[in-house]
Amino acid sequence: MPEKTTSKKETVIQTTSPSNGENEMVVTPWEVRGKVDYERLIREFGTQPLSEDLLKKLAKYTDALHLQIQRRIFFSHRDLDTVLDLYEKGIKFVLYTGRGPSGPVHIGHLVPWIFTLHLQEKFKTRLYFQLTDDEKFLIDDKVTLNDTQKYAYENALDLIALGFKPEDTFIIYDVKDVDLLYDITLEVARRITYSTAKASFGFQDSTNIGWIFWPALQAVPCFIHKKLTGENVPALIPAAIDQDPYWRVTRDIAPKLGYYKPAQIHCRFLPGLGAGGKMSASEPETSIFTMDPPDLVKRKIWNAFTGGKGTAAEQRKLGADPSICSIFQYYLFLFEEDDSKLAERERRCRVGEMLCGECKTDIAERLNKFLAGHQKRREEAKDIIEEFHIKRSELR
Ligand code: TYM
Repeated sequence: MPEKTTSKKETVIQTTSPSNGENEMVVTPWEVRGKVDYERLIREFGTQPLSEDLLKKLAKYTDALHLQIQRRIFFSHRDLDTVLDLYEKGIKFVLYTGRGPSGPVHIGHLVPWIFTLHLQEKFKTRLYFQLTDDEKFLIDDKVTLNDTQKYAYENALDLIALGFKPEDTFIIYDVKDVDLLYDITLEVARRITYSTAKASFGFQDSTNIGWIFWPALQAVPCFIHKKLTGENVPALIPAAIDQDPYWRVTRDIAPKLGYYKPAQIHCRFLPGLGAGGKMSASEPETSIFTMDPPDLVKRKIWNAFTGGKGTAAEQRKLGADPSICSIFQYYLFLFEEDDSKLAERERRCRVGEMLCGECKTDIAERLNKFLAGHQKRREEAKDIIEEFHIKRSELR
């Protein structure tokens, strides 16, 4: 499948279902709405599905495939094959991912980070992690720079709590580190026209000019490794597919600047606790934040949308539908590693042997157990957070 470039016709990322306005699917870096059709995103964004051959190649380095790959939570890529071929020839890659710190971290954000940690451990490679306190300030009128910088610190603690090591994890705080980024930002920005930016990101006349310039900043960590170390190696970016428009424009200009095109591996969205849609910090009642206390988690889970029936008697008789249940997705994404136990849970649900109350109680317990450990590690991260700050000592 040909890659979508930034030609006008091909880069409309705000994809709208022609049939039904209510089910409109919108996937942009700033908004995800409606029922997400991942097959359609592969077609319209011009990415590649993960083929069996590619997964065999990946498994050569990772032993067993990570659960998120086995379950196709990561489902699509650009140039993962190229990066693995180069790796085989001795050319390493760096990992790059990030977070827009406009609020606290929710468990959906952890999905690509957990997978990033797995790749880092298997490939023994460096991670650049960008905290875009500038982006969130520019796009959200309600937050101050002080807020986004405060959240950048808070969000970094969540990353560290997952087990990343300071030796090979380099956190970039955009506002603080802009001097390090700015020369490459300018090289990038000069090569992206307004018409490309508009077609790729849907900018309007009313969009502030900071936001229009800003995508150049998200490109920079793809290339920063060369500036720091002198080594020109590709970057591999694990992230949900909403970030893909950034990579399309970055991939276009990378060769012009003498860099490899950055590669991507894309994941699906962990849904919120409502009916459909991704988990989103802007909807706190249907999101589980990493700092939520146990009672709040229980309450949110208790109010979650499931595939259950109106009454227990009806459900025992007719069964329920896990395919539309938000809770079932939490087992699938994060909280049931054993495939046979997951299948058994699904079967019992479908035939009405297990009711939603039992399933909700189980997930609340698992979530609270995970969060208790995470919150403890997050507290400990406060003592070492400085060690993760991008190390300028290497700078040539
Ligand atoms: P942000 O803060 O919106 O999201 C951070 C990361 O979490 C992913 N994500 C999700 N993944 C699974 N399920 C969800 N419900 C969910 N919601 C969000 C996002 O895809 C992202 O990977 N502009 C970026 C910050 C950034 C970045 C990067 C992200 C800078 N450089 C490089 C990824 C890669 C942002 O605002 O992400």
